[in-house]
Amino acid sequence: MIVDLRSDTVTKPTPGMLEAMFNAKVGDDVFGEDETVNALEAKTAEMFGMEAGIFCPSGTMTNQIAIKCFTQPLDELIADQTAHVYRYEGGGIAFNSAVSTRLLNGYRGIITAEMIEPEINDENNVHYPHTSLVVLENTVNKGGGSCYTLEQIKPIAVLCQNKGLKLHLDGARIFNALAHTGDSAADYGKYFDGISVCLSKGLGAPVGSVFLADKQTIKYARRIRKVLGGGMRQAGFLAAAGVYALDHHVERLKVDHAHARILATELSHCGWVANVLPQETNIILFDTVEPAAVVLEKLAEHGVKANSTDKHRIRFVLHLDVHAEQVEHVVGVLKGI
Ligand SMILES: Cc1ncc(COP(=O)(O)O)c(C=O)c1O
Repeated sequence: MIVDLRSDTVTKPTPGMLEAMFNAKVGDDVFGEDETVNALEAKTAEMFGMEAGIFCPSGTMTNQIAIKCFTQPLDELIADQTAHVYRYEGGGIAFNSAVSTRLLNGYRGIITAEMIEPEINDENNVHYPHTSLVVLENTVNKGGGSCYTLEQIKPIAVLCQNKGLKLHLDGARIFNALAHTGDSAADYGKYFDGISVCLSKGLGAPVGSVFLADKQTIKYARRIRKVLGGGMRQAGFLAAAGVYALDHHVERLKVDHAHARILATELSHCGWVANVLPQETNIILFDTVEPAAVVLEKLAEHGVKANSTDKHRIRFVLHLDVHAEQVEHVVGVLKGI
């Protein structure tokens, strides 16, 4: 049996999703004529209490478009040092937006208003770049799926409003956070200027993310998407997978979290595991006594694929294509190492 725990991006479309894609009504989306893309954008915006949305090929593109929309060249943004926008988007903040990044040391990627405030530059001192944007990530990938609650986000939003900063959310796994915290998606629109929602992580669509903001920002975002080469034509075939995922795969994220809990508990009983980080959602980070590469090899011999994130740290990610029998298989493998 093969169990792929490398990432929640490895899922394949289900038969129901494929059927929805096959039957999608499409048009030329660069002309605004693809009714399935239009429906996905409107549906996602409504879910999060935002005015409008734009469908893009990837979460990297929605984040980079957001940063471009909310900054000017020579500005600075503030984010945690683990932030995907900074670490894993190829230096796009500097390349696409000519913006510098001020990094904070949050707890598992979670930062607070108290941490942000002293890092906002004095706008009257020309030595400093102009601080214009704060980026949060929920859940935090590098934090091991750690979550912000809306209560934690509110003071950050108030600070940003008071200081005239924009607030963007990298919501690649926002539905995992909502499943864990019980917060309502519709309330998110009150606090963020921009939200990036990925359809191709836990939700199981093959491609796509939606950037949400007000109408004027989304109008500009369409221009930036075109410049980046992200204007797609009959994209409704892909958007249909997104609509299907929003209709059918949101509730079931709790199953992934329960599976992660089973594996985290099992790992905490294993003598070859030095430490299991707190597990909240579908990601587990744990430290190994032996080098991670040695453990990964042993796991692979039993069909369990995973990745290391450090010399002694391994990441497991639960998702749509890991079923209860596979979780049971992994438990057996963990016991046997
Ligand atoms: C937190 C986070 N943001 C953004 C992305 C980028 O998504 P994509 O791979 O669709 O570009 C990822 C990808 O894993 C991610 O984990």
